[in-house]
Amino acid sequence: MINIAIDGPAGAGKSTVAKAVAKQMGLTYLDTGAMYRATAYTALQAGIDVSDAEKVEPMLADMKMDIVFEQGAQQIYVNGVNTTPYLREHYMSKAASDISALPCVRYKMVDLQREFASSRDVVLDGRDIGTFVLPDANCKIFMTATAEERANRRYLELTEKGQSVDRDALLADIVKRDYNDSHREVAPLKQADDAILLDTTDMSIQEVVDKVISIVEDKLKEETPSSADSSQAEKKTQSESVEQVRPLTRKERKAEARVKKRYKLEQKFGFYRFLRVFLHPLQALLWPTKLIGLENAEAVAGRNAIFTCNHYSKVDTFLPCFAIFKREAHILAKAELFENAFGGWFLHKMGAIPVRRGQADIDSVKCVLKVLKDGGQLMIFPEGTRNKEGTQDMAEFKSGTARFAIKTKSPVVPMLYYAPPKLFKRNYLYIGKPFELDEFYGDRSHDAMERATDIVRQKMDEVRELVNAYVAQKNQKKRKGGEK
Ligand code: DC
Repeated sequence: MINIAIDGPAGAGKSTVAKAVAKQMGLTYLDTGAMYRATAYTALQAGIDVSDAEKVEPMLADMKMDIVFEQGAQQIYVNGVNTTPYLREHYMSKAASDISALPCVRYKMVDLQREFASSRDVVLDGRDIGTFVLPDANCKIFMTATAEERANRRYLELTEKGQSVDRDALLADIVKRDYNDSHREVAPLKQADDAILLDTTDMSIQEVVDKVISIVEDKLKEETPSSADSSQAEKKTQSESVEQVRPLTRKERKAEARVKKRYKLEQKFGFYRFLRVFLHPLQALLWPTKLIGLENAEAVAGRNAIFTCNHYSKVDTFLPCFAIFKREAHILAKAELFENAFGGWFLHKMGAIPVRRGQADIDSVKCVLKVLKDGGQLMIFPEGTRNKEGTQDMAEFKSGTARFAIKTKSPVVPMLYYAPPKLFKRNYLYIGKPFELDEFYGDRSHDAMERATDIVRQKMDEVRELVNAYVAQKNQKKRKGGEK
């Protein structure tokens, strides 16, 4: 499948360009903004406040959205009614921006968008396509223009239609929408690291279209020219409708289904406890570990909590679990591990949650939130990766820990291995005091997440000092004992 992602702020010309690019390259174009607009329209029609998640969520449960193409033009039917004629009204822009900030809305739209893109060669335009919806897109473009230029374009568009509008009000509106779209909690407007930035301020539409096509073609050429997908793309004629689907192979479907199944947590942990009886003593023998501050883990027993830990090896994923948690602590494990029938089953029984790495995995996030909201415990590696160097330095922290802790009001328990766990040697694991990020509760801003992540890091650093001091003291005692 060919997936092209075009993101950018309101009024950068994405939809005009994406439509033209899709037409010229024989791809299907999906206007994802229209989906948010259709959702907002449906809410407004039902008299629902578009910012009220509690009212919008039940509406979504009954909302059936169908995207169809009539004479090549995208139409969005909601519960059988074509909403398309109403979506471009001026007031709909603000309503769509507001409703798009609700996580429940995003999850539903993103599922639909991924499903759409999985069976066609597509160009999607939006705010979060490259960062969130299609993180593996073949080509990502981030299109911008100055706010003044975007307001100007909108002004010309509306005045050409005979509407009288105030240019300054349009500019203020665009600036406000930019702010809303880039500061929401889930999948904010942001340039993906691997997206190509295209500033269209001084470019005509045709120039932008030509530029995007040349970028896409270069990108597709960079990929294996012999791959079935690219050769199909080359064969396509401009007018050909592209409904070709590369269905997943049976094996891929099975693997995918296995992973999917594991997002449904089974919260009966008889098996975990059963295993613990055997594996804990075995581990204690193989990797004897001195647990310092176990009372800190006990202080949060029986309630939701997030344990953060540094991560050196495959061993330390389960080692602290058996040592500390009499009941399970859920850990996150890469989704590929669940593709194997036995491995997936085993991890599942241990309470592991799959996570598709390199992308924002909504299923995984939902699963973690459910665990914590239900009073469960999670062990997480805030670095998001293994420290292969084996040094005491920790990589930059991901914001996940802070997000989960704030959203579910879970205390955080910082834990730290002194060094990579070694076979038959004494290992040290320090469990620090639980702390809460309560000063940020209710604050979903990017700034709050950054500050909260800094605090998690600081607490881990403090535990580092404690464990180093502990081990230094131990060694000193040992040396003194030796001298005697
Ligand atoms: O592109 P547009 O103006 O039609 O989008 C309407 C609103 O929908 C916009 O303010 C932000 C939101 N949106 C989004 O959050 N994610 C997308 N992929 C597309 C649009």
